Amino acid sequence: MEMAKIGPGVAGGNNRQTLTDADNEGRHLFKRWCDEAGLAMGVDRMGTMFARREGTDPDALPVYVGSHLDTQPTGGKFDGVLGVLSGLEVVRTLNDLGIRTKHPIVVTNWTNEEGARFAPAMLASGVFAGAHTLDYAYARQDGEGKSFGDELERIGWVGDEEVGARKMHAYFEYHIEQGPILEAEDKQIGVVTHCQGLWWLEFTLTGKEAHTGSTPMTMRVNAGLAMARILEMVQKVAMENQPGAVGGVGQMRFSPNSRNVLPGQVVFTVDIRSPDQAKLDAMRTRIEAEAARIAAELGVGCAVDPVGHFDPITFDPVLVGRVRAAAEKLGLSNMNIISGAGHDACWAAKVAPATMVMCPCVDGLSHNEAEDISREWAAAGADVLFHAVVETAEI
Ligand code: GLV
Ligand code: MN
Ligand code: MN
Ligand code: MN
Repeated sequence: MEMAKIGPGVAGGNNRQTLTDADNEGRHLFKRWCDEAGLAMGVDRMGTMFARREGTDPDALPVYVGSHLDTQPTGGKFDGVLGVLSGLEVVRTLNDLGIRTKHPIVVTNWTNEEGARFAPAMLASGVFAGAHTLDYAYARQDGEGKSFGDELERIGWVGDEEVGARKMHAYFEYHIEQGPILEAEDKQIGVVTHCQGLWWLEFTLTGKEAHTGSTPMTMRVNAGLAMARILEMVQKVAMENQPGAVGGVGQMRFSPNSRNVLPGQVVFTVDIRSPDQAKLDAMRTRIEAEAARIAAELGVGCAVDPVGHFDPITFDPVLVGRVRAAAEKLGLSNMNIISGAGHDACWAAKVAPATMVMCPCVDGLSHNEAEDISREWAAAGADVLFHAVVETAEI
């Protein structure tokens, strides 16, 4: 709740978008808490924060526990924050109990998980895993044309560490489910076995800017109409790929965006996801082909830019087993679950054994200021995280 005071939203949630002044303030609060817990802070050139508790074996690679402190523009208090602060709670608990682990434990706050301000999502963990170059990340621009690199420097969080130089023994991430399954199944813990993959496609449709009153219907080159038909087609493609596929449009910009002007340009984003690689790629191919056909029929220009992608992930079976065993040992009801949302764990899984723990959220709501969890749900997942992390870090 202290973190949630920083970057308040307009409806009880948070607007602490990446590399804003509020993000800077949240980072300083997290750093203060890490200092108080006796952790040593390292920061890499993407601004990702690594707070380290030493282990007893100087040669042992660290166990990483992390998530993100940035939010959507209309985000909840728990998406990401729960995972970072539960990592901190793991080390505070070890401190309180005077327990030392063989492996160091590093609590991590990844920069720009959300991708709302700078696409793609999970940008810093993507650079860490070698999926993007640092130059690519620094050149990402927000809606006002400000670059990631300039904004990172402006808020003062360009660290001196080379990105991805760290080696991980294991990576754990605790997150709210962001969907309705655990609550509907009345389970306290989601044992996350996989994460679905995604493509983010940015379409630019070019029509002819013209008067909506005086341009006859037969003489319009209507980019807005093409967008509407493409939106409907994306829905149809996703429905035809059930079970296990989703697709939708979350953002669009009509230009000039005036009531009585047919848009000369429409830019909109398509987000498609599936745990099945073949299905995901086939959906992308089909959507691009059908969009080109729809646009051509209306005489509208159509260009597509893939602005975000990751493959479906299978998490490490040994770590997944440890999460399940911890839930069982604690007497917590649990079930296997596939993450519908993307997480930094997906990129971490490319470079280390990784997995996640999930807890339910009220009405399955997330990316919404009304996002909520109960204290009991939060605590149960944090207990599971603690046991799985400590077993991996070895006492
Ligand atoms: C990131 O939050 C995503 O899953 O879209
Ligand atoms: Mn998140
Ligand atoms: Mn999110
Ligand atoms: Mn996410």
